[in-house]
Amino acid sequence: MLSKKMQDALNQQVNAEYFSSYLYLSMAAYFQAENLNGMATWMKKQSQEELMHALKIFDYIDSRGGKVTLTAIDAPETAWKSPLAVFEATCKHEAHVTSLIHNLVNLAKAEKDHATESFLIWFVNEQVEEEDTAQQIVAKLKLVKDAPSGIFLMDRELGMRA
Ligand code: FEO
Repeated sequence: MLSKKMQDALNQQVNAEYFSSYLYLSMAAYFQAENLNGMATWMKKQSQEELMHALKIFDYIDSRGGKVTLTAIDAPETAWKSPLAVFEATCKHEAHVTSLIHNLVNLAKAEKDHATESFLIWFVNEQVEEEDTAQQIVAKLKLVKDAPSGIFLMDRELGMRA
């Protein structure tokens, strides 16, 4: 059985994952409006991954006899000044999510909730990958600067995300 404190914190993380999904979908909308459909595809896939993260926590709360409580999702930003600005915002957001996950691990430790601590390891590792991926894209976009041919190639590359 989850403690009330742990249950509430996990429910907050469900909300944070849905917000992430919403944010990346908003970024996809921005890219589509800019005719950068490859980058939009990348963001839609990212948005789907975040839904999967939310559901993983949703099911975990339930499996531990907890109660899932869904709350309002904040509106995401809708405009950025360049593809680089979007991916820099992605990096910043993922670093924030990493800190939320680490706080959950700290709470699980404090609550002596070994099962939740073990469950969260997947998220700790996932965050390493997510931050690394976003940072690599930022590095490439910095190389490209705003050169249209470079943006064109990056759009094509990101559109191939599996
Ligand atoms: Fe669910 Fe991108 O962290």
